[in-house]
Amino acid sequence: MSEDTVLWWQSGTVYQIYPRSFMDSNADGIGDLAGITSKLDYLGWLGVEAIWLSPFYPSPMADFGYDISNYVDVDPIFGNLADFDRLLEAAHSRNIKLLVDFVPNHTSDEHAWFKESRSSRDNPKSDWYIWTDPKPDGSPPNNWISNFGGSAWQFDEVRQQYYLHLFDVKQPDLNWRNPEVVQAMLDVMRFWFDRGVDGLRIDVVNLLFKDEALRDNPPNPNWKEGDPGFHQQLRTYTEDLPDMDGIILEMRKVADAYPERVLIGEIWLPYERLVHYYGAELNGLHLPFNFQLLLLDDWQAESVRQLVESYETALPEGAWPNWVLGNHDKSRVATRLGQTRSRLAQMLLLTLRGTPTLYYGDELGMVDVKIPPELARDPQEKGSPGFGRDPGRTPMQWDASPDAGFSAPGVTTWLPLAPDYEKVNVDAEKEDPASMLAFVRLLLALRNANPALNSGSYRSIESSAAACFVYERAGAGKRFLVALNFSDQPQTVSINDAETSQGRIVISTRTGREGIVNLSGLELDAAEGVVVEL
Ligand code: NOJ
Ligand code: CA
Repeated sequence: MSEDTVLWWQSGTVYQIYPRSFMDSNADGIGDLAGITSKLDYLGWLGVEAIWLSPFYPSPMADFGYDISNYVDVDPIFGNLADFDRLLEAAHSRNIKLLVDFVPNHTSDEHAWFKESRSSRDNPKSDWYIWTDPKPDGSPPNNWISNFGGSAWQFDEVRQQYYLHLFDVKQPDLNWRNPEVVQAMLDVMRFWFDRGVDGLRIDVVNLLFKDEALRDNPPNPNWKEGDPGFHQQLRTYTEDLPDMDGIILEMRKVADAYPERVLIGEIWLPYERLVHYYGAELNGLHLPFNFQLLLLDDWQAESVRQLVESYETALPEGAWPNWVLGNHDKSRVATRLGQTRSRLAQMLLLTLRGTPTLYYGDELGMVDVKIPPELARDPQEKGSPGFGRDPGRTPMQWDASPDAGFSAPGVTTWLPLAPDYEKVNVDAEKEDPASMLAFVRLLLALRNANPALNSGSYRSIESSAAACFVYERAGAGKRFLVALNFSDQPQTVSINDAETSQGRIVISTRTGREGIVNLSGLELDAAEGVVVEL
């Protein structure tokens, strides 16, 4: 790919901010937009290209902002539209792009549209949501279950009908078969693009259409006792229906009316179904999120290699890849893999071909925080105990002061702070060349400075060590070899390169390791990864 055709959302790194947890500017224990603005210098220093904000819109907070009661405003908890404009301008003045969350599948039950819709069976918005009559015995129309547990149908006394909610009962699903809904939602996209945002991350975009005949979902044969309740069924009739395609194209047309905007889709599907969302002529989503690294249990060289290879093979010609290592819905990477292996994982994320998404705090090695049951906030914890997402959403750790620099000392934060914050924080790690922060920042700097890494080609390399995953990135006249040892034992990697027998280590997960190495005997410590310039 030639350098001048590379777009910002291809070569750059996206950093996800969960607004409640990033920085609290007014000492109420909850992060806000002015707080984010005050930390933009940090993000510039870190080296990310863009930030994506999880929802900050008016919301009763049943799902912490993913239940929106007004798509075109800011919740007072987070500030107001003027604060948003200031944030956007301050980001742009630092060459940082800003993406916002777009949640088209459902509104809050407190959205004016739903209030009107539920008020009668014949009001102008009566068909804006998915309403249906009970079965003759009064029970819900089918077996669909909510992602947060229990039936996905709620009976409404006024209409004497059920409405669908694939998430919380306070998150009624919009009816995307209604053209008025489509137009209203495309207008929401335009509202944010007109304001100047650089892209949208589209929430559960593959769920917008449901089976019109409301057929029962089949049971999931792989479900076992102990798995979350919402995995009990296959989502045959509630996700990824072909009816979707037209809407994706419409969304893309809206984005294309503005220069260089990006559409990222939240889609939890295997590659063969995921790649469909790029659109037959790459006229769909720019980046359907690739979550497979988040789902991988078997963190071994061969499984990771297979994952990368199958993604590279599945990608349509010209489609741009992307990789995600953490987000607000999953356990943190440092908890899933441990600190040492999560370094290796960050090296993988930031050297693979494709746009990386980094979750706030992962650059510090923040871990999941055990939340006592009485402090649990997430609706998923309530519906499926043990599967709550609070542990990975705790306040960002800025310094060693009593509130970790997130809020004012003495303020009770909306979720508890991690007990390790006195050691694991931005201030402390900035000073420590061996820290995760220093390591991630170096990786980002290397990636940003080298087209080979941020937009070059990828090639898997055969090596003598089965426990290692080795690949080459090349572009703009440079070549880099990435060698990752996934085992707990030292390994020696031997590579036959047609052009050279030596290379220079430019970064290692082992701090301070540099210098010339022979490719015929590249020694890696347990769980060590290196990037070698050839
Ligand atoms: C996906 C979001 O990432 C998650 O946090 C939310 O609960 C659901 N969509 C519902 O909006
Ligand atoms: Ca606040």
